[in-house]
Amino acid sequence: MTDETEATDGGSDTAAGADDLALDPWGSSTVSDYRKLFEEFGIEEFEEVLPGVPDPHYLMRRGVIFGHREYDRVARAMANDEPFAALSGFMPTGDPHIGHKLVFDELIWHQEQGGDTYGLIADLEAHSARGISWEEIDEHARNYLLSLIALGFDPEEGELYRQADNTEVRDLAFELGSKANFSEFQAIYGFGGDTSISHMQSVVTQMADILYPQLAEPKPTVIPVGPDQDPHVRFARDLAARLRYFGITEAFASFEVDPDERGLLSRAYEALSRDGSADDGSDEPPRCEDAADWLETNQQESPVRESVVGKLRAAGKEPLRPRVRFLDRNATDEAFEALIEAVEGDKRVFDEHVDSFDLSRPEAEELAREIEIDHGGYGFMLPSSIYHRFMTGLTGGKMSSSIPASHISLLDDPEEGYEKVKAATTGGRETAELQRELGGEADDCPVYELYAYLLAGDDDEFATRVYDECVGGERLCGGCKEQAAELMREFLTEHQEKREEAEEILEDLDVELEAERRGVPGDEH
Ligand code: TRP
Ligand code: SF4
Repeated sequence: MTDETEATDGGSDTAAGADDLALDPWGSSTVSDYRKLFEEFGIEEFEEVLPGVPDPHYLMRRGVIFGHREYDRVARAMANDEPFAALSGFMPTGDPHIGHKLVFDELIWHQEQGGDTYGLIADLEAHSARGISWEEIDEHARNYLLSLIALGFDPEEGELYRQADNTEVRDLAFELGSKANFSEFQAIYGFGGDTSISHMQSVVTQMADILYPQLAEPKPTVIPVGPDQDPHVRFARDLAARLRYFGITEAFASFEVDPDERGLLSRAYEALSRDGSADDGSDEPPRCEDAADWLETNQQESPVRESVVGKLRAAGKEPLRPRVRFLDRNATDEAFEALIEAVEGDKRVFDEHVDSFDLSRPEAEELAREIEIDHGGYGFMLPSSIYHRFMTGLTGGKMSSSIPASHISLLDDPEEGYEKVKAATTGGRETAELQRELGGEADDCPVYELYAYLLAGDDDEFATRVYDECVGGERLCGGCKEQAAELMREFLTEHQEKREEAEEILEDLDVELEAERRGVPGDEH
């Protein structure tokens, strides 16, 4: 389950160690087994947060958005009319296609739900990591922005920017870079001695993108992306935590414990405080050594018992009392002093931490953030993310920008879009007769995906009908593809009209459409 409180202790979420490069942001983005993402990388199932999302988008309802990190925090803000943000970025390496449309739609939906929404062009990344020239980048950047606006992004309400032109992002990247080192880049991204410095710089730039919506004010922020971007999300969460002035943990005595040990301690505490009040009615808290005795008789199975008992014995007669602890991480002396001053009620001050006996954890989180911001810190919340499934290519296999027949570009001529759908692979049977008998395999059909991800739009009943008719053997592929192809033609026609209208909007915006840059692109990957 998601830890609802903030992992400012940075323990559970370390990006390092994810050295299995099944998730490679610059590799081929296919995912053979989505279950593995849950087990190996700790992505959570979207289904679990879905009930908390007000009026969810069809991509959420249909399981296209399948995973998340701490999206519950964003959903809660949305439901309570509190500030939240959404941000995603696009590498201008080619034409925007129907796979990118998923992310465009996710951003637009969050904007409609009231979020501060950002769309960015990852031109620094395209130049350094993909070797694209500035000239090409300009052309593609423009096309991404036009499609995003044409699909409904409101650039007056939200913000569109290019990494290369956003000095705040670049400054933040520099700052974040002081908490990131090469060994981590090796572990997370497989970087080596031949990786260019600019490529590394594009990584800290993306970290800055992800935290940019919180510069003015920390707020829950969702990053909608494909699962290949998860290493970036994990790293950004780590860096956000590392920049915090104070870490918050919960403890029972002066010593530190890990979450498992804390569980055990809490059991001892509960049992002893219950016994205590039953016996003599006194309010005396139990002593550490009493807890050690209790654990030794009552919790022989636990693998962490020995370590907890050791710590408890060393603490001896110290009373056992639950508390919220503020750990000094990066705080200036002044900030630490101010925090001590600001903790109300019963507290104990140590060299590098303060224990509060009266504050709840959320109250402590809020206070720590306030003090941090007042003293020149960012106070970042850990960014959240949602992950969508990759679309299958129309020719089977992966949908790739470099294989034109595998995808439909948002700039494809509507007739060409029609033809591509007509030529697509299906989940149909060898003969019409077999299809009537056995039904089609909609779950393995790129054409069905087109309906579910795009063509059926918000109409769940239509998407379900296509599915049921297919697997029930009432729908044959010829007619099914004809219908899909026509819908695709309609979609492209309409989208391209809207793109023309978007031209004017784009011209009026404050986005630099021509990079005043020279140089030689990087040559990795
Ligand atoms: N790396 C992303 C890609 O390959 C682009 C990107 C840059 C991005 N900054 C971002 C995505 C911030 C999400 C959030 O497409
Ligand atoms: Fe795919 Fe349609 Fe054929 Fe079913 S009937 S397999 S959905 S093309």
